[in-house]
Amino acid sequence: MKHFISVHDVTDINALAEKALAYKANPLSDRVLGADKKIGLLFLNPSLRTRLSTQVAARNLGMEVIVFNVDKEGWALEFEDGAIMSGTTVEHVKDAAPILGQYFDVLCIRAFPSLKNKEEDYSELVMKSFMQYAGVPIVSLESATLHPLQSLTDIITIKEQMKKAGIAGRKPKVVLTWAPHIKPLPQCVANSFAQWINAWGEADFVITHPEDYELDEQFTKGATIVQDQDEALKDADFVYVKNWSTFTDYGKIYTNDPSWMLTEEKLQLTNNAKVMHCLPVRRNVELSDEVLDSANSLVTTEAGNRVWAAQAVLAEILKSK
Ligand code: CP
Repeated sequence: MKHFISVHDVTDINALAEKALAYKANPLSDRVLGADKKIGLLFLNPSLRTRLSTQVAARNLGMEVIVFNVDKEGWALEFEDGAIMSGTTVEHVKDAAPILGQYFDVLCIRAFPSLKNKEEDYSELVMKSFMQYAGVPIVSLESATLHPLQSLTDIITIKEQMKKAGIAGRKPKVVLTWAPHIKPLPQCVANSFAQWINAWGEADFVITHPEDYELDEQFTKGATIVQDQDEALKDADFVYVKNWSTFTDYGKIYTNDPSWMLTEEKLQLTNNAKVMHCLPVRRNVELSDEVLDSANSLVTTEAGNRVWAAQAVLAEILKSK
């Protein structure tokens, strides 16, 4: 694996997920794989899980980790080619990235979308610039359109639960449902989940959202889209709850309809579904307390699995170097 930006960087999703589960069973089995290697984690946005799980994963592989909160401690970076830098940006990525590539063997970057300019966000300029200029493997810690470490984690968590629940010999029904939120959020997690579940191909995959909340078809193609949430939830084995802002009329909130919040009553429609969310979650806005605090909730297990997903990806990159 050269870079890890999307599902397209993975040749065998099941093999990578099994590798992650093997690390969960034996975290230090490759403790010297990354000896004498340095990994840089660059954050242009906040994080709890991604930052800490990737650090733990890298250390389990023997790597030295340095975290750089670029948004708070670094120079404001410019990404536009040919920009006349007379404004707020101080350093061009063309100048910064090759230097970071000399300091680190692997570079990980979190860079959210602006939600103001769809073409710019969906061009993935930040990730592509680092891939072009750093000269070392780049791992996405969530980009403008995707969150691949989260999605790999989600598949690991589903596979793990399927084994526990004895779901074998049939495809689980997995439902991605939109939920209300007070702020316009990126489409990244939903796009990425759809991309990975479709590529995995081992689930009966349904997406439900209010009118005008369609996601980009390049990620959702292959899923069944159902606008009636109750209908979508029927017989679900897994329900993945996530808010996203509008894609077509980009970055807007069209509705905050509280009836889309996943409650215990709605869960009754499912096949006693396990409930997933990438976190952080707005309690009693996206998901009710009763669901989050119930035995159906997988959110803590899911967040714990972030370590094993990151460890499997970093190990693949280290072995390819
Ligand atoms: N799910 C996730 O990416 O969490 P953080 O934003 O806290 O890293």
